[in-house]
Amino acid sequence: MAIERTLSIIKPDGVERNLIGKVLTKFEDAGLKVVGARLMHLSVREAELFYWVHRERGFFGELVEFMSRSAVFVTVLEGENAVAANRDIMGATNPENAAEGTIRKEFALSIGENTVHGSDSQENAANEIAFFFSGTELHGAR
Ligand code: CMP
Repeated sequence: MAIERTLSIIKPDGVERNLIGKVLTKFEDAGLKVVGARLMHLSVREAELFYWVHRERGFFGELVEFMSRSAVFVTVLEGENAVAANRDIMGATNPENAAEGTIRKEFALSIGENTVHGSDSQENAANEIAFFFSGTELHGAR
């Protein structure tokens, strides 16, 4: 098993509904460690850049508007197979398809307002972590 890092964002719908603690508890109870964290309000431009890979999708404008609506809580999670583990804990993108016990099953409002984002590969995790954090802001096992 490899110790990995992945990026997690508690989205505006989660921060607005006071779910930071409940979401972090899911990660911590599953053995993932918070090694970096920041509460921030993304600008429209920052949200566009973060989700640039989706710029051709029909939901891009809606996604950017939502992600820049209010504060997000951005964390770096560290642990065994953290990328895949985080995705298991989050559940499917669409809460209607999410498994029982997952964050999105319990808390997501819709496919857009789905409470959390998580990196989908180790390569994207490295890029997404670097988008938000410098090395000196991370405090884990390495
Ligand atoms: P996330 O994991 O943050 O990555 C891209 C996001 O786009 C995704 O979660 C969803 O919140 C959002 N998304 C995907 N499909 C749709 C859709 N059909 N309508 C609105 N938002 C979507």
